[in-house]
Amino acid sequence: MTGRRPTARPVSRTQGLATAATWPLVARSRGELARALASLRSGGQRSTVAFVPTMGALHDGHQSLFARARGLADVVVASIYVNPLQFGPAEDLDRYPRTWDADLERCAAEGVALVFAPTDEVMYPGGREGQHITVSAGRMGEGYEGAHRPGHFDGVLTVVLKLFQLVQPDVAVFGEKDAQQLALIRRMVGDLDLPVHIVGAPTIRDADGLALSSRNRYLAPSEREAALTLSRGLRSGAAAAGDGPDAVRAAARAVLAEEPAAVVDYLELVDPSTFTRAGSEHIGPALLVVAARVGTTRLIDNVAVSL
Ligand code: PAJ
Repeated sequence: MTGRRPTARPVSRTQGLATAATWPLVARSRGELARALASLRSGGQRSTVAFVPTMGALHDGHQSLFARARGLADVVVASIYVNPLQFGPAEDLDRYPRTWDADLERCAAEGVALVFAPTDEVMYPGGREGQHITVSAGRMGEGYEGAHRPGHFDGVLTVVLKLFQLVQPDVAVFGEKDAQQLALIRRMVGDLDLPVHIVGAPTIRDADGLALSSRNRYLAPSEREAALTLSRGLRSGAAAAGDGPDAVRAAARAVLAEEPAAVVDYLELVDPSTFTRAGSEHIGPALLVVAARVGTTRLIDNVAVSL
């Protein structure tokens, strides 16, 4: 196990555990992970584990998940793995940002005890083709994000199930930012009887409303301006909730239509647990979801709407 210690500032905040390590342990292989988990879980009673899977390029949104996880269990375990299975052939797998040292600092700052950072060979020993058995997201994975990224959610669910098997967490935390992903993970856990509790955490935004995303760094200043239309449109839509689903859609659409630099993939009001379109008569909780391309960067966002 490589207990990596960057030379940067020591972190004063620890996780209040007997084992409180200042810098997280780093496990690269299945063996290292098993040994690290065993040592974290030893010490009298079995410690509970909260797990936060990520693809790295960590920002304050990820960090808020670590903080949430800290309040849910004795030990926080994170994973950093850019999962090739969830990227389409024309997507940004190769240019996905990798910021390892800064990532480790953010983990340390939130008291993450262990970072699992496997290589592709560890996760998929036989390569992509060697992963014969995969999870199908079914119909719920075909709309919205799934329609624009075929196979994406099968790849997400497959890696998340594998990570759950390897880490065996009691609870796992996911961001509401990726609302369809969160809904599908809840569904997988229910449908496949996985013994893990799923917790959703609110979307962290910049002061101007832009939802934090690892991909925001690709936005030029003028593109960033255009990207703000997403959250602005969602706010407008949510403000029209009193007038019903069609008014919500229309209000959001009107704002997005004013920004030609944001090319909308979809803008829809959906049922948050099934991701089916909320009809004109829909009442109760709903989710206004949007995806748009600004330049070569694809952004998604959503807001809860109570009808
Ligand atoms: P990644 O995009 O790195 O996101 C990791 C987690 O951080 C997800 O649960 C995501 O919803 C959450 N997150 C991202 N931006 C956020 C924000 N602004 N506020 C709050 N939470 C935010 O999602 C993935 O990785 C992958 O699909 C993964 C689940 C790790 C499987 O490969």
